[in-house]
Amino acid sequence: MTGDYRFRDRAGPLIAEIDEALERGEIDEAGWHARVADIIGPAYLGAATPQAQSGFSGDAAGWVHARGLIADAMDRDGTFLDVGCANGLLMETLVEWCAAKGIRIEPYGLDIVPELAALARTRLPQWADRIFVGNALTWSPPLRFDFVRAGLEYVPPRRRRDLVDHLLADVVAPRGRLILGVYADADPTRPGLEEIVRGWGFTIAGHVARPHRTRVEEMQRVFWIDRA
Ligand SMILES: C[S@@+](CC[C@H](N)C(=O)[O-])C[C@H]1O[C@@H](n2cnc3c(N)ncnc32)[C@H](O)[C@@H]1O
Repeated sequence: MTGDYRFRDRAGPLIAEIDEALERGEIDEAGWHARVADIIGPAYLGAATPQAQSGFSGDAAGWVHARGLIADAMDRDGTFLDVGCANGLLMETLVEWCAAKGIRIEPYGLDIVPELAALARTRLPQWADRIFVGNALTWSPPLRFDFVRAGLEYVPPRRRRDLVDHLLADVVAPRGRLILGVYADADPTRPGLEEIVRGWGFTIAGHVARPHRTRVEEMQRVFWIDRA
């Protein structure tokens, strides 16, 4: 599945090499996560803007356009966990976007890079005790969340279905929602991420898409799965 869909902003080609090293048996899964963290950590921690500290290459207006559609998946008050929270910018801005449509969310974050979780705690001291360090694939949460957002790029390609299983079984609260994205399918001639996940047997409860702010031929997508 390596390279099937592009959803990693600028780190994509580097991470594709790491995927291939895992497939060749040169590294194990712990090594995969360590190498990804070695790329992401210094790049985000050394970045000059809050958006870049969350791995986003645009400005504040671009962030609203690119991430704002996650708010479309939020349909009621509740707790929200951002898996891969980086510096916490999505936690912070999603609260504002939801408030603007009359929804009150309580944000939480999880990141595999301890220094990024520390940065998020420093930026958002009011939520410092809600920001956790761990690998989304194996993390045991101290509570379940009504809304959980994640990206499947956070685990090696062969573990993506396991990540969906784990998040739905152990992290999303009963009657809660797993939100996947924002991502863009790289190749319109191949199955998109939503179709791949549906093919794993999950029912897609809803989805939204909007064109990229500047690359208008590219659709940015989010979809979600509801827990019984
Ligand atoms: C592109 S940033 C996402 C920033 C922001 N949440 C957003 O919506 O754009 C990806 C973050 O996921 C974290 N991450 C990657 N793999 C992870 C894993 N297996 N478990 C938890 N966090 C992970 C990275 O350290 C990084 O901070």
